Amino acid sequence: MQTSDPKELKNHDPDCLVLGIESSCDETAAAVVAGGRRILSNVIASQADLHRRYGGVVPEIASRMHLEAIVPVIDEALREAGVDLDGIDVIAATRGPGLVGALLVGLSAAKGLALVTEKPLVGVQHIAGHVAANYLTDPDLEPPFLCLVVSGAHSHIVRVEADDRFQILARTRDDAAGEAFDKIARAIGLGYPGGPLLDRAAQSGRPDAVELPRTTLADSLDFSFSGVKTAALNQLNRLIQQAEKSERTWQDLVPLADFAASFQQAIVDVLVDHTMQAAASTGLRRLALAGGVAANSCLRRCLQAAADQAGLILTVPLPILCTDNAAMIAAAGYRAYKSGRRDDLSLDAVPYLDLDI
Ligand code: KG4
Ligand code: ZN
Repeated sequence: MQTSDPKELKNHDPDCLVLGIESSCDETAAAVVAGGRRILSNVIASQADLHRRYGGVVPEIASRMHLEAIVPVIDEALREAGVDLDGIDVIAATRGPGLVGALLVGLSAAKGLALVTEKPLVGVQHIAGHVAANYLTDPDLEPPFLCLVVSGAHSHIVRVEADDRFQILARTRDDAAGEAFDKIARAIGLGYPGGPLLDRAAQSGRPDAVELPRTTLADSLDFSFSGVKTAALNQLNRLIQQAEKSERTWQDLVPLADFAASFQQAIVDVLVDHTMQAAASTGLRRLALAGGVAANSCLRRCLQAAADQAGLILTVPLPILCTDNAAMIAAAGYRAYKSGRRDDLSLDAVPYLDLDI
């Protein structure tokens, strides 16, 4: 990282246009955001249909599809925003964590554009990007605040101390919340990607139909979802065996909607409980939600109810800004740029990149 002349920094410049680029997993995305707040375009090319037949993201296919999509997606983002590259002030791209071959496509495109246009380049940590979706949602939100970041790979409670400074208060010791949703969704035959399908299936279900554990660890707000996942798989196997004896299906014994709602509630209860404990112990009165799992309707509802009860203000981005997108990367890039961050062409993709370093 290089820090350049601070005079160059335009503090809170509502006209500063950032081109954001995201390619860490299976979405090729580009967006233009003004002043880190106002979305001028937000283009997302999802590969979900391609990976569905394999039941998960295939890294080599993801990289190849990013290569095909990246230039048209960036072109489309600029066209929709009504600007050309000359009008862009900063180029921001996800540098990690994520699939290295996938990350390299977006990052190389950003570096190429920065080289030819001589515009500043800023590498963005993907989780910081998810957090920044909240700046696009609430025009008054400023650090410090607490953010629950729940995605396919991460479950963090983050204290956002400043634009480019974060402290992780809790993380998962094993599975991420999204990973647990995806695994159980697949086990009950819902397909891929499992989280949104399980959310939909749970709509008409009873959340107390299947008894499942809520795991908390001693003296820590860290999460552990492997126990509830195993308990759900064991329950499912028991139901399958029981049903086979009388030539029925497990869903004749427990409706799929009830199973889905019970699992969802078990995950959500722990996420909400730990977040509220973190709010109480830090004294922070502003909460935010981020990451793909933040699109979950039960989590949105339950965290809002808990925040209301405790008198805390909660920001919840629209579902399209919770799952991977480049507007959030542009918003985070703006914040990092404003804090003096500059990267050069030696910037590399980092598959395991922490937030608080
Ligand atoms: O943030 P994201 O788009 O990608 C990562 O950075 O991982 O998150 C993807 C995760 C997947 O596990 C997906 O199943 C989950 O978010 N997800 C949901 C919902 N929408 C997406 N999980 C539960 N309910 C949803 N509505
Ligand atoms: Zn993500």
